[in-house]
Amino acid sequence: MDINWVRKLAAVAARAPSADNTQPWMLRWNGDEVAIVFAGRDRAKSVFPVDSHATLISVGAVIENIQAVISANAISAEWRLPAAPETGQPYASVTLHGAPANFVTPEGPLRRHTNRFPFRSDALPEGLLDQLGNYHEGPSRISLLVDPVEKSRMARLVQVCSEARFCTEELHEWLISSLRFTPADAARGDGLDIASLGLPPGGRHFFRFIANWKRMASLNRLGLHKLMALIEASLPAKAPALLCIIGQGNPRNIICGGRLMERVWMELNLQGIGVHPYYVVTDQINRFSTGKVTAGFEARMSKVEEETRTLLALQPREMLHMILRIGYPKLSPVRSERLPLETIFQDARASSSALF
Ligand SMILES: Cc1cc2nc3c(=O)[nH]c(=O)nc-3n(C[C@H](O)[C@H](O)[C@H](O)COP(=O)(O)O)c2cc1C
Repeated sequence: MDINWVRKLAAVAARAPSADNTQPWMLRWNGDEVAIVFAGRDRAKSVFPVDSHATLISVGAVIENIQAVISANAISAEWRLPAAPETGQPYASVTLHGAPANFVTPEGPLRRHTNRFPFRSDALPEGLLDQLGNYHEGPSRISLLVDPVEKSRMARLVQVCSEARFCTEELHEWLISSLRFTPADAARGDGLDIASLGLPPGGRHFFRFIANWKRMASLNRLGLHKLMALIEASLPAKAPALLCIIGQGNPRNIICGGRLMERVWMELNLQGIGVHPYYVVTDQINRFSTGKVTAGFEARMSKVEEETRTLLALQPREMLHMILRIGYPKLSPVRSERLPLETIFQDARASSSALF
C-alpha cells in the first residue's frame, strides 16, 4: 500500500475534534493496518487521561473520519476493537485492503468544525431534524431539544456546571494552558486559538488577566464564576436546537457515542448548519460520580445529574455524552489548526528498521 495514501488518510483522521484540541491520539501504520493509540500530550497537565470519557469520544470521532475515507475510496477494510480499548494500546485498528491510485478526500471531516459564535434564530428544517433523530451507532442515539422550556432547562444545567468548572483550579489551569494568544502560538497546531472563541472586544486581555488562579479564585469570591457561567449558558438557551448525544458509559459504547457525534456533526456542517459542543455537563457529572467535583458543588451536581436524566428521559444504563448547540451561523469562525503530521502519524516499519 502506498505510504503517501496512508499519510493522507491520517491527515483526514486527525481533523477529528478533541477537548481543547489536545489531539490525544497517534496513528501507527504497520504496512497492513492503522492502529489508533493514545498519545498523552503534556501528560502532566492533562485532565483527560487515556481511558477518560473525553478521550474515548475523540477516538470515536477519529474512527468515523477514517471510515469516511474508506467509504469515499470504496476500499475494503476490517475494524477491530480490542477487549479493553480503554488502554489505548490500541483503541482500535483497521486493516486496509488495497487502495486506488488516487486518494479521494471525503468532504465531511474537512468541513466539520466548531463554531462558538451566536447562531441565527430561525428554525432548522423539520425534515432534517427528523432525519438526524434517527441516527444511531450501537446503543448511542440522539435526542433533540427544540422546545424553549426544554432548551432553557438544559441551558440552566450548563450554567450550574459551568459555575463549578470556573471554580476548579485543575480545569482553569488546563483551559489557560490550552489558549493560544498569538498567531505564532496557534500555528503550533494544538490548543485553542483565542480568535476561535468568539470573545467580545477585550476578551483576550480578560483571559490573560484571569490566567493566574489565585486572582481568578479571588474574583470568584466576588461572583466572577457566576457571571462567566451566565454568559456561557446564554447561547444554548437561544439556540434553535440542542442536539444531545446519548449512550452507554462503558468504553466501547463511549467510542460509539464519539462516532455518532462526528457523523452528525459532519452532516450538519455539510448542510451549512453551525455546531458548538458543550461538554461541561457530561464532564461535571463524571467528576461528581468519581468524587472529583469541586468542594461545595456536590449537592448541586447531584441535582444536575437527576435533572439531566429526567430532561432527556435517560434509561438506567444511559448517560449524556455531549450537547451540540446547532443553528445557522451568523459568522464563519477561525478554524483550529492541527499538529504536524509527523507528530500524529508513525510508520512503524520505518521506526523498527531504524533500530537495526
Ligand atoms: C470531548 C470534547 C469536548 C469538547 N468540549 C467543548 C466545550 O465544552 N466547548 C467548546 O467550545 N468546544 C468543545 N469541544 C470542541 C473542541 O474544542 C474542538 O473540537 C477542537 O478545538 C478542534 O476544533 P474543531 O472542532 O474546529 O476542529 C470539545 C470537543 C470534544 C471532542
